[in-house]
Amino acid sequence: MNKHVIETYERGWMLFSLAMILVFLVFIGYTLSGFAFYVPTAAERIDPTTVRTGGFPTPHVEKVGPGKYQAYVIAQAFTFLPNEMHFKVGDEVTFYVTSPDVQHGFYVHGTDINVQVIPGEIAKVKTKFKRPGTYLIICTEYCGIGHQNMLGKIVVEE
Ligand code: CUA
Repeated sequence: MNKHVIETYERGWMLFSLAMILVFLVFIGYTLSGFAFYVPTAAERIDPTTVRTGGFPTPHVEKVGPGKYQAYVIAQAFTFLPNEMHFKVGDEVTFYVTSPDVQHGFYVHGTDINVQVIPGEIAKVKTKFKRPGTYLIICTEYCGIGHQNMLGKIVVEE
């Protein structure tokens, strides 16, 4: 190899390294901007101190159409309100979940529901129950001394 070939080879790798640095910087910037500019939209926000006093609907399940329901759930230390909900196979349910105290999780075992419940925000998640059974609701964020006992259930009947 003559001198010129080696220089070209080295230049190639230097450019490649520079390009990779740029790519990583872009990724890092993108990740950071995701945090910096994350602002929940107004409709999802709530003053957590008002959750128990009328700022949020009383926990309940409401029928909004044929096979369609809305469930208003409060996740609080260390329970879910309502703690037990009943649906039929094929029902489509939109859950609105918020917390009056600390961060909780709203995970419904065996479904695709798994959301963080952050004080000040109303988490909205929709699912369709396709199989009958008893689905455990599990708090998946550490929330204090009773965290491991923070459970609820959803019963889906034929
Ligand atoms: Cu609520 Cu952990």
